[in-house]
Amino acid sequence: MIHETAEIEDCTIEQGTNVWQYAHIRKGASIGRDTVIARGVFVDHDVSIGARCKIGNYACVYWPAVIGEGVFIGPHAVLTNDKHPSAINEDGTVKGISDWSPAGVTVKHGASIGACAVIVAGVTIGAFAKIGAGAVVTHDVPDGETWVGCPARKLDCP
Ligand SMILES: CC(C)(COP(=O)(O)OP(=O)(O)OC[C@H]1O[C@@H](n2cnc3c(N)ncnc32)[C@H](O)[C@@H]1OP(=O)(O)O)[C@@H](O)C(=O)NCCC(=O)NCCS
Repeated sequence: MIHETAEIEDCTIEQGTNVWQYAHIRKGASIGRDTVIARGVFVDHDVSIGARCKIGNYACVYWPAVIGEGVFIGPHAVLTNDKHPSAINEDGTVKGISDWSPAGVTVKHGASIGACAVIVAGVTIGAFAKIGAGAVVTHDVPDGETWVGCPARKLDCP
């Protein structure tokens, strides 16, 4: 099901996936089977999202992110791609695509990212790791660990 208000460019969406109102999926992106792309989600060009994922309302997934299977991304979470963003170069000219190097976020299968979390460019979230709501993740998170806070740190669960 693709809602009539969703903006779908030339991309691949597998069967069983639902794309809700005002989502925008850019060219070259691929979305696996039985995934939910909620209202207002932005999936950048050439981003890969696996099967059985849930991408919450207004989450933004910027190129070149790679999302594994069964990943949850909470509402308003942002997976960034530029660690040191700026609008202009030092000489005042507008920064173009050749003036910076994108670094994608990788999220391994079964991981869960809480609402409003920000994952800084280039970070890897391990399999079945959990990221707390509102966290700012600046380091790679190993498989199965829970990280919270700003900057995010490992939560030692009993
Ligand atoms: C703030 C920022 C510029 C720092 O980059 P940096 O100078 O390379 O810093 P480092 O990665 O070496 O981090 C230095 C320390 O600051 C912490 N830190 C980095 N960014 C942080 C942030 N946004 N909030 C809180 N702490 C932060 C790191 O955890 C690290 O501390 P630690 O080693 O004790 O954990 C960068 O992390 C950032 O947030 N960039 C913005 C990304 C963004 O919003 N992009 C939007 C376009 S897609």
